[in-house]
Amino acid sequence: MNIKEKILIEKLDDFGRGIAYINNKITFIKNALPEEIVDVVLIKENKKYNEAKVVNYIKKSKKRTDVKCPYYNNCGGCNLRHISYNDTCNYKIEKVKNLLSKFSDININLNIIKNEYILNYRNKIELKINDYDWGYYETKTNNFVSINECLLALDSINQVIKNKDLIKIKDGSIIIRSNYLNEILIVINSNSFININLEKLRNCINLKGIILNDKVYYGESYFFEQINDYKFKVNYNSFFQVNLSIAKNIIDYILDNVSGNNLLDLYCGVGVLGQSISKNFKKIYGIEINKNSIEDAKHNAIINKINYANYICGDTSKIIGEVKDKIDTIIIDPPRSGLVKNTIEDILKMKALNIIYISCNPVSLSRDLNVLKKHYNIEKISLFDMFSYTYHVECVCILKLK
Ligand SMILES: C[S@@+](CC[C@H](N)C(=O)[O-])C[C@H]1O[C@@H](n2cnc3c(N)ncnc32)[C@H](O)[C@@H]1O
Repeated sequence: MNIKEKILIEKLDDFGRGIAYINNKITFIKNALPEEIVDVVLIKENKKYNEAKVVNYIKKSKKRTDVKCPYYNNCGGCNLRHISYNDTCNYKIEKVKNLLSKFSDININLNIIKNEYILNYRNKIELKINDYDWGYYETKTNNFVSINECLLALDSINQVIKNKDLIKIKDGSIIIRSNYLNEILIVINSNSFININLEKLRNCINLKGIILNDKVYYGESYFFEQINDYKFKVNYNSFFQVNLSIAKNIIDYILDNVSGNNLLDLYCGVGVLGQSISKNFKKIYGIEINKNSIEDAKHNAIINKINYANYICGDTSKIIGEVKDKIDTIIIDPPRSGLVKNTIEDILKMKALNIIYISCNPVSLSRDLNVLKKHYNIEKISLFDMFSYTYHVECVCILKLK
């Protein structure tokens, strides 16, 4: 083992890794904090950078905290468990501040809304299945890390993992979703041997359905979620916010900050955001590419007794022009990649008074805000700690037409 000794960690990168310089080459080191001195081994050597792993801590940071998770050193599931929760929040504020300043020259005060449940909050996880065992991959590798529990996931999800012997699958992947009633949807993708002991499984968990290779294997292909007074049907492959309590915080925040006549909910999923703030508007339009999600959104408008919602299925960049009404408020909640150029142009043409841009990727957000800011004042940006103990954070921006 070629050990590099006494390496000084200088700062944290945007993925929560320590940054050091070894032979003048930037090196990213998991589970290493600024001011720490460590011995490392290189696990990846690239022309421009190295990745390394700590084998010995010579000087530890005062900010280092004990990690209760036995898988943390290898598992790629979370990245910031080795500092206090408050420090993870400060790190996220600094990171977003720097990215906004670097990519869009926006210098604005940021606040963060903390997570009430900093562990066991995730209602969905995806695991690899490797020779009947379940686990995550190590960060940026295909090294399998077997787990019996994930401390970020809801207890109801961990109950499924603990009973993996009842779901025998040789190889593939499994998504486990849970709702506000702790009902479980299991989504399996596998072309290998499968043997599920349904009778015993149903005694251990509140099983709503199992979907195998996109076909219902048992029960239903959906369940319902609830936020405030609204119910949402969620298909097994529809997006739903992974942290129910923070999703409610975001909705309450938008309700307090924005109202108008005609709302356009872009990338609307099953209609959660638009319908949850529907009382502040007279008409709602929603656009979403996933057919199941748009069917769910239509169904949800009916069960939530909103008779002024219109949903269109398709790629936002191609069909946004189908909305002919004068829109005064737009919610933008795109995938991590953000907006494509012509969608921004179409949005600008609408001259909506309010834009609420929600993003889990501050890099694509900064790039898009850099264009939007020519026509909009960036009134407020708040961070919501949707993904505690990971380097991810949800940013909610309120923009007003100049
Ligand atoms: C971050 S999720 C937001 C969903 C929803 N706003 C919510 O809060 O539940 C992004 C959504 O955009 C959808 N999507 C991805 N690309 C799209 C596109 N080009 N046009 C329309 N919808 C798209 C995804 O299917 C997903 O439902």
